[in-house]
Amino acid sequence: MAPSAWIREQETEPSILDVTTRIALIPGDGVGPEVMAEAEPLIDWARSRGHRLETVRLSYGADHYLSTGETLPEEAYADLRDGFDAVIFGAVGDPRIPDGRHAEEILLRLRRGLELTVNFRPCQPLPGLSRQGLHLEVFRENTEGAYCLQGSTEPGRAVDLAVHTEVAVLRLLEVAFARAQARGCALTLAHKANVLKHGHGLWVRVFQSLQAAHPDVPARGMHADALLCALVQDPAPFGVIAADNYLGDLISDLTAAFAGGMGTAPSLSWAPHRPFRCAVLAEPVHGSAPDIAGKGLANPVGMILSTALLFRHLGWESEAETVERAVAAAMRDGARTRDLGGSLSTAGMGAAIRDRLSG
Ligand code: NAI
Ligand code: MG
Repeated sequence: MAPSAWIREQETEPSILDVTTRIALIPGDGVGPEVMAEAEPLIDWARSRGHRLETVRLSYGADHYLSTGETLPEEAYADLRDGFDAVIFGAVGDPRIPDGRHAEEILLRLRRGLELTVNFRPCQPLPGLSRQGLHLEVFRENTEGAYCLQGSTEPGRAVDLAVHTEVAVLRLLEVAFARAQARGCALTLAHKANVLKHGHGLWVRVFQSLQAAHPDVPARGMHADALLCALVQDPAPFGVIAADNYLGDLISDLTAAFAGGMGTAPSLSWAPHRPFRCAVLAEPVHGSAPDIAGKGLANPVGMILSTALLFRHLGWESEAETVERAVAAAMRDGARTRDLGGSLSTAGMGAAIRDRLSG
């Protein structure tokens, strides 16, 4: 089954096709607004193809925080949760705010508050890049683990807790098993249960219980350190990898490197149990890249492919495929930003992709 069909079957209610889809755009900091500027025209294009959708741009991020002291106000959060269907997010992070407080209160708040447990990070090298044919997918738990923001700093001692709940682990792993089954590929759980006996012990137990229910999925657990070594040596045998928040973050940046680097990697997060109207968020894997921000150097492909993943999630398969084909065609024709050895600007790359939407 194609990924599209699988995601649609899992997540999309048919009724969503008949109503206006409300999408919040949060460009954020650094290169976030630059790559968002290349995703926005795709929304207009989807609208021109008959989809009823409305977008609202929200300016939360470092500048807003520094000028008002506000990160994501409670009212705005509640409006997002109950009044929108989806979020497209750029990136947050600014050297002027070294403790990253605003990033925590905006992005982590959205991921945790909206219960966006599943973070899907596919890796499929685009035409012209090495490792053609590779198809890896990382499913990262997105709301807890070591990123639960619980801990303390005392003189000479610092503690970060990692909290894992059975309900979130089960939600993530059920999706990963279903995906490996649909693709007919291997599933690997990354863990360190040999030392993280409690938290990762729980992951292994839940994984084993699902293994019993999916005897046809070639599934195994691997210590994450050994997994990283095996991935670098040969990623081809790994179809789907599931991991907790911290390990999934690390592993998916590595897999991004197999497919052109940070600038090209897309991601989609969703809440499989749909607790709120707003149950999906598209964002590139990369951060705000302050080293290249404001220079037109950012590659918009990760953001554009994330938007395609969102279209597919909303049931707009034809638009998702058309955008993905346009990205592939632009790459085949040699369109490249500097990170891929070319000289196109962010806007130039976005335009090269849009020019190929009808092809
Ligand atoms: P980063 O992903 O922003 O940058 C890592 C490297 O990748 C840099 O060399 C950067 O120039 C390059 N890069 C990133 N995006 C690119 C693009 N679109 N095109 C070409 N090259 C690109 O990660 P870093 O440097 O660790 O973090 C920078 C800031 O971003 C920090 O404040 C961090 O907390 C934040 N961050 C935010 C994330 C988010 O909003 N989801 C995710 C990761 C980091
Ligand atoms: Mg990361």
